[in-house]
Amino acid sequence: MNGLKLLATGRALPSQTLSNDDMSRYVETSDEWIGGRTGIRQRYFCAEGENATTLAIEASRLALERSGIPAAEIGCVVVATSSGEYVMPSTASMVHGALALDENIPTLDVGAACAGFLYAVEVARGLLLAGGRRYALVVGTEQMSSVLDMTDRTTCVLFGDGAGATVFELDTEREYVSVQGTRSDMAIRSGCPSITQKVPMQMDGQAVFRFAAAIIPKCVQDLFAKGGRTMDDVDWVVCHQANERILDASIRRLGGKEKFYKNIDRYANTSAASIAIALDEMNEQGLLEEGQRIVMVGFGGGLTWAGIMLCI
Ligand SMILES: CC(C)(COP(=O)(O)OP(=O)(O)OC[C@H]1O[C@@H](n2cnc3c(N)ncnc32)[C@H](O)[C@@H]1OP(=O)(O)O)[C@@H](O)C(=O)NCCC(=O)NCCS
Repeated sequence: MNGLKLLATGRALPSQTLSNDDMSRYVETSDEWIGGRTGIRQRYFCAEGENATTLAIEASRLALERSGIPAAEIGCVVVATSSGEYVMPSTASMVHGALALDENIPTLDVGAACAGFLYAVEVARGLLLAGGRRYALVVGTEQMSSVLDMTDRTTCVLFGDGAGATVFELDTEREYVSVQGTRSDMAIRSGCPSITQKVPMQMDGQAVFRFAAAIIPKCVQDLFAKGGRTMDDVDWVVCHQANERILDASIRRLGGKEKFYKNIDRYANTSAASIAIALDEMNEQGLLEEGQRIVMVGFGGGLTWAGIMLCI
């Protein structure tokens, strides 16, 4: 119990769309190769003036408006990102300022790569429980284009930029089950360990594929075991969108094909933003209804994973 009711969602996308054909201006590749191996058809990249902060603020403003909750009642802001505009100050603190939230609340960023959004939900729930407040703003935002090596065709075609935001309400009567895990590994890495040694995205794609295809079924089965549920009890499975073939391999192991939401064709891998963007799309299409049981699974660099099963 002590679950989270999903009150509202929002998403924000950069103004530039790049098709797979557009990517072949940077590297030797094709729509056939990218589409066939990953399911990706296009991605958004930030243009001048757009970044993980601007996207997070836009998505958060939408989610907050739609929730109908006064800004002063938001009890914490947790932002998942691995490509924030700054390491310091946190993106969460800038969202807090832009939305003029109450001064006496915690704001922080969570770095758990593509699993980040679900870690952020878990942290936000803990903060609400500890702080006695009811509402949390939880965001996933990424400018993956800022860490990509646009000469490396094995990585640059896979990622995109975007943000998704959610407003949750703590509800002591609502079901909530979560699992997390880590398998320390450098199979995906990026960032700026020092000013003189910037590290663009590097990845052992096949190792990550094997990890992801195994970890989604494990995570879902661990949630079911912990919560005493089966796939029959679930309305939706919303996984991090990294590769359609990873999702299909998981579906073959788990069943429930019609319950898995997919949108990687339009966004590519938006890392910590992907699950929140998917939730907002689903909401927009009227697919989410109060009381539904949803399973969410995130996985990525670290290597980390996280699963949450909740009734929205
Ligand atoms: C990256 C990935 C799509 C590569 O697919 P793959 O079937 O493993 O392909 P390989 O790495 O074996 O490469 C096959 C060939 O395609 C080539 N290739 C790689 N990227 C290419 C591209 N964008 N366009 C065209 N050819 C490409 C390779 O150079 C290789 O050529 P070679 O056989 O002449 O050496 C796949 O491994 C994957 O999706 N991994 C998971 C990555 C991921 O989702 N990470 C994030 C997790 S959060």
